[in-house]
Amino acid sequence: MKLPDRVTICEVGTRDGFQIEPDFIPTELKVEVVTLLAEAGMPRIEVTSFVHPKVVPQLRDAEEVMAKIRRRPGTRYAALVPNDKGAVRAVDAGVDAIHTVVSASESHNLANVNMTIAESIQKLTAVMRVAERARVPVGCGISTSFGCPFEGDVPLPHLESVVRRLVDIGARAVGLADTTGMANPRQVGRVFDVLIGRFPGVEWTLHTHDTRAMAIPNILAAMECGVTHFDSSVGGLGGCPFAPGASGNVCSEDLVHCLDAMGVETGIDLDKLIAASRRVQAIVERTLPGQIVKAGKATRRYPLPDGVAARLPGRMTSDSQNAAGSRLGTGHPAIAPASRPPLQ
Ligand code: COA
Ligand code: ZN
Repeated sequence: MKLPDRVTICEVGTRDGFQIEPDFIPTELKVEVVTLLAEAGMPRIEVTSFVHPKVVPQLRDAEEVMAKIRRRPGTRYAALVPNDKGAVRAVDAGVDAIHTVVSASESHNLANVNMTIAESIQKLTAVMRVAERARVPVGCGISTSFGCPFEGDVPLPHLESVVRRLVDIGARAVGLADTTGMANPRQVGRVFDVLIGRFPGVEWTLHTHDTRAMAIPNILAAMECGVTHFDSSVGGLGGCPFAPGASGNVCSEDLVHCLDAMGVETGIDLDKLIAASRRVQAIVERTLPGQIVKAGKATRRYPLPDGVAARLPGRMTSDSQNAAGSRLGTGHPAIAPASRPPLQ
């Protein structure tokens, strides 16, 4: 498997995740979650969105959240905007980066932002001007890039034409979003292979939803094409309110765990991220889809069943089990074969 040495993750849980929570999450708690994620070493956080407050009431406190977060050097704090009005609000609120949204399918774009794709591109042209004046970098996301819940297939030439229009208005970073988890790894590989060849110099991001359990396989397929930027949500929060059947993003801690296990660097402290995820579960008062919070890391070890220790050939004592457990830092009683070095 050909994988990059390092990838950059953008946490989108407080935007893509929180936007579908029915009960208003108090501003202080949103700020707390952003702080925990930054302290875990998240290099990028999509904090909130500057959209119509009646359309997404959960994020109506976007200005307040941006004003209250304490910036950690090394974290880039971004927000999603659909139009220039949103971009002006975001710049005034002090974002480090703007993320824009347009869909690859007309019906989803109309449902999501009440505009045709052409109208959205016009608005995004104005967004680029606002961002340029403020010297704020822009990442342009394309929803339903791999399929639309209303229209089905999104032909690659059509997706390519949307990318072309974004590049023509100055986009240097483009994100392909699998809004309702319709993509499969072979498709992801084919799409990136073609687009990376057609648009050299663009920084590509893959934004996944795990609706059909294909998010991590899709990320691996993109990594094999050389993509190094991925969005994810703590706990696997997430979903688009304007796409039927949408569910959570790929879970941040599950993704970081997978990348850690393969030796791909993220700069993120997995234990702190898991702790942040537990806190988010407490805030939303339900169990989230993430697996690692439930299963523990792959380094987790269990006590030997009764009678097994006595029958093991040689050296496995209960003292060495406990020593191995504390070396692993799992907080669980643990064993490791005495002949092998401790697992990290
Ligand atoms: N923030 C706050 N208010 C906004 C706004 C923004 N970014 N964009 C437009 N408005 C206001 C206008 O000022 C206008 O206000 P007024 O009635 O007081 O004059 C009103 O909204 C209508 O403006 P219009 O441009 O006609 O917007 P619309 O009603 O067609 O809605 C969007 C368009 C894009 C603002 C709205 O569909 C939206 O916010 N969508 C976001 C959806 C989303 O977040 N989806 C999930 C992310 S993928
Ligand atoms: Zn999304």
